[in-house]
Amino acid sequence: MMDWTDRHCRVFHRLMTRRAMLYTEMVTAPAVVHGDRDRLLGYSKEEHPIALQLGGSDPAELREAVRLSAPYGYDEINLNVGCPSDRVQSGCFGAVLMERPTLVAECVAAMQEESPVPVTVKCRIGVDDQNPEEVLPDFLEKVAAAGVSHFIIHARKAWLQGLSPKENREIPPLDYALVRRMKAEFPHLTICINGGITTLDQSRAMLEAGLDGVMIGRAAYHEPGRVLIGADALWGDGPGLDAVAVVHAMLPYIDQHLAGGGRLHQITRHMLGLFHGQPGARGWRRVLSEGASRPGAGVRLVEKALAEVTVQAA
Ligand SMILES: Cc1cc2nc3c(=O)[nH]c(=O)nc-3n(C[C@H](O)[C@H](O)[C@H](O)COP(=O)(O)O)c2cc1C
Repeated sequence: MMDWTDRHCRVFHRLMTRRAMLYTEMVTAPAVVHGDRDRLLGYSKEEHPIALQLGGSDPAELREAVRLSAPYGYDEINLNVGCPSDRVQSGCFGAVLMERPTLVAECVAAMQEESPVPVTVKCRIGVDDQNPEEVLPDFLEKVAAAGVSHFIIHARKAWLQGLSPKENREIPPLDYALVRRMKAEFPHLTICINGGITTLDQSRAMLEAGLDGVMIGRAAYHEPGRVLIGADALWGDGPGLDAVAVVHAMLPYIDQHLAGGGRLHQITRHMLGLFHGQPGARGWRRVLSEGASRPGAGVRLVEKALAEVTVQAA
């Protein structure tokens, strides 16, 4: 998620789940081809398994972006066919590509030529006045024919005129049943569902209904302790670190970041929701949001914030 799932966020999330695939922010193909690749694509080895999400609609440019990103060792390359923002529409990529399944097929075919790892697609169920019952199966069929077997479907349309990107994540109604029907219609495809899922119980129910995976966006970001700690139980794993242990495990990473000239808030801004709903959560959030941008703020501030939680719990 743009501005959210940067490398610091992913290091933090990885401490809570060993199993879940983590996705980068979308990086556009032109940015990969022409930009500062180490800054755009660099990450810590602890983040695996990690998927790079690309945006674009020019097969040759996407092929080149995949070629240039291959040395970075991502575990999956994902094409964004879901993002509705104006900027993305004007470049003709993101959700508007739901109208051009043949072009998407050409894009993924080109990407696969250079990709040592699976190429996957994240899409919507349709856009604007499209009929999802018709366009989604047609889209899946055409893109699967180009060799993609793994789709993540955000179970609502994007309305490309008149709604902000935020509204486009809230207003078009969710249609989980349609995504389940796609799994029934294309049993050989890996179909993961996304959109409005906020709990592990909901996720388990989706898996029991036959879907292959669940992508959680906002809830995982805002309440990582509640959503990500315990997620590995979906794979049958026992408990991992609790939230306090996660904070302790972040301290060496924070120290290293600060030693390299980074700022504390660049990391702690992703950690504010860790104790959401628990005693002391407000104090944790307050100490970090007030202090982490100040010059010289470091791990002592994080320990001070943690005391708000642990003292309340004691
Ligand atoms: C701040 C923000 C940035 C996002 N950036 C991306 C992105 O770069 N690529 C993408 O495929 N989806 C992006 N999304 C959409 C989410 O991946 C997800 O599809 C959407 O929020 C619905 O899932 P959720 O209800 O679990 O959050 C973004 C969402 C938010 C809130």
